[in-house]
Amino acid sequence: MDMKSIPAQTGNYNLENYEEMYKTFDWEDAKKNFTWNETGKVNMAYEAIDKHAEDPDKKNQPALVYSAPGREETLTFSDLKRESDKFANVLKKHNIEKGDRVFMFLPRSPEFYAAFLGILKTGAIAGPLFEAFMEQAVRDRLEDSGAKMLITTPELLERVPEKELPDLKQVVLVGGEGSGDYISFEEEMKDASQDFDIEWVDLEDGMLLHYTSGSTGKPKGVYHVHNAMIQHYQTGKWVLDLKEGDIYWCTADPGWVTGTSYGIFAPWLNGVTNVVKGGRFSADDWYSLIAEKEISVWYSAPTAFRKLMSAGAEVAKKHDMTSLRHVLSVGEPLNPEVVTWGLKAFDLRIHDTWWMTETGAQLICNFPAMEIRPGSMGKPIPGIEASIVDNEGNELPPNQMGNLAIKEGWPAQMRAIWNNPGKFESYFVNGWYVSGDSAYQDEDGYFWFQGRLDDVINTSGERVGPFEVESKLIEHEAVAEAGVIGKPDPERGEIIKAFIMLNDGYEESDELLEDIRQFVKKGLSAHAAPREMEVKDSIPKTRSGKIMRRLLKSWELGLPTGDTSTLEE
Ligand code: WTA
Repeated sequence: MDMKSIPAQTGNYNLENYEEMYKTFDWEDAKKNFTWNETGKVNMAYEAIDKHAEDPDKKNQPALVYSAPGREETLTFSDLKRESDKFANVLKKHNIEKGDRVFMFLPRSPEFYAAFLGILKTGAIAGPLFEAFMEQAVRDRLEDSGAKMLITTPELLERVPEKELPDLKQVVLVGGEGSGDYISFEEEMKDASQDFDIEWVDLEDGMLLHYTSGSTGKPKGVYHVHNAMIQHYQTGKWVLDLKEGDIYWCTADPGWVTGTSYGIFAPWLNGVTNVVKGGRFSADDWYSLIAEKEISVWYSAPTAFRKLMSAGAEVAKKHDMTSLRHVLSVGEPLNPEVVTWGLKAFDLRIHDTWWMTETGAQLICNFPAMEIRPGSMGKPIPGIEASIVDNEGNELPPNQMGNLAIKEGWPAQMRAIWNNPGKFESYFVNGWYVSGDSAYQDEDGYFWFQGRLDDVINTSGERVGPFEVESKLIEHEAVAEAGVIGKPDPERGEIIKAFIMLNDGYEESDELLEDIRQFVKKGLSAHAAPREMEVKDSIPKTRSGKIMRRLLKSWELGLPTGDTSTLEE
């Protein structure tokens, strides 16, 4: 779709002149905003919460506004400091130390945020898990990380194979009775002291593990350190354009990186009120929340915008959304149609932003005071060098498609892949971090996303590894072989399509396919279950036994199959 550019907005923005800032900015400047600039010691939870709780003008300002069916709660900065200090004391009492992995398998709730901050205060490493994960997904992550403690609910505990996890020493239950084996969150919090001596750590000390999928192998633990705060703070200022008095809503779950970097760190480092919504998606509820809470800055995803779009203008019209002043998107390509819809629905531009779990923070963005070219992800933030490179890491000229790459060494960059140094190394070529996305850059410096270069599937903005789904599929008694691809879908971006070969003695039927689908859903998670399945007599593989997903995809899309010389006889 060819669409005219949308001119820069006028107003008071934190970043008025992108070009100028790009030329002059140095990350050293950003460090001056933090107290550790003098002491050398740091803690993300201090900068995000305690600092504001110590400020008489800010301590009673709402920090967390929680809204879910049947539960509304507001915690000020001083409330969150107290609750997280208490939980940090609970952790210490149960021998959690700096560097330990403490995982959280919880729905979005005030307890989640207090516990998360409490973990950081002890210097331990937090590992948030998406609440829709099922047993296998939970086991893989707890096993690989060697998590010592898990915080969960009695319902979710049913999906945790405790006996198979020798490193897991303790389980804290939120909303459950304390019994011999389990620690009760509520009971321990009742008695916990409100005074906690925060663990001052080094910038390079571990803070967070987010598991994410690649095209091969199990999910990988992307390891982030406290230093990331420099970029969370700065992008919160420039990209989210957060200012005193803003009411901010990020729709992402903290089990994914957007829900931590921009659902916890960026808003609180900038001292703004952070709205968290529990419960499921409903267009009416979402619009009501914006109106009721008077949300001014809103960060969401193309899938959600597309759902709102299909709910129709009537639903939108019932609600007053004039509080909104800045809207942003991440996670998948933002279709120009959605940008056009946004202009009509909110009278605002939707600002696309590009980044990944591995990058820790936003890298290529559209800024309020910058012209938008719908379909483009924007330009690199000041302090970031982005380029298009070939497979050897040589830069390519404008308008040529290649690997989207970032010059190594930005503040929020992952520092390791947990237990997997080889994988970590493989991301870097000739000084560039190679993202796995293909893109090109136009003559004016705008980046245009083209697709994934590997087989990673992006369904409704969630990253799914085909290998994980294939492995689960073949565990089903009826399935001999499986190949999994992402199939383009107008609302979800991509859906998961599985090609399967059945074992002898099994006949294809709707019941059997549904049974296989449910098997994946119950083993991994709902978003990883194939929405489409097709039975084949064989699954194409290379002579070395690798599933040729590319060939499956070409079949599916009716495209030429290209080079099949490596295909097994
Ligand atoms: C995709 C989410 C197009 C991309 C923060 C990337 C995007 C992957 C965009 C990372 C965008 C993210 N336009 N595609 N603006 N933003 N992606 O790790 O393929 O869950 O590599 O991080 O999502 O997904 P992840």
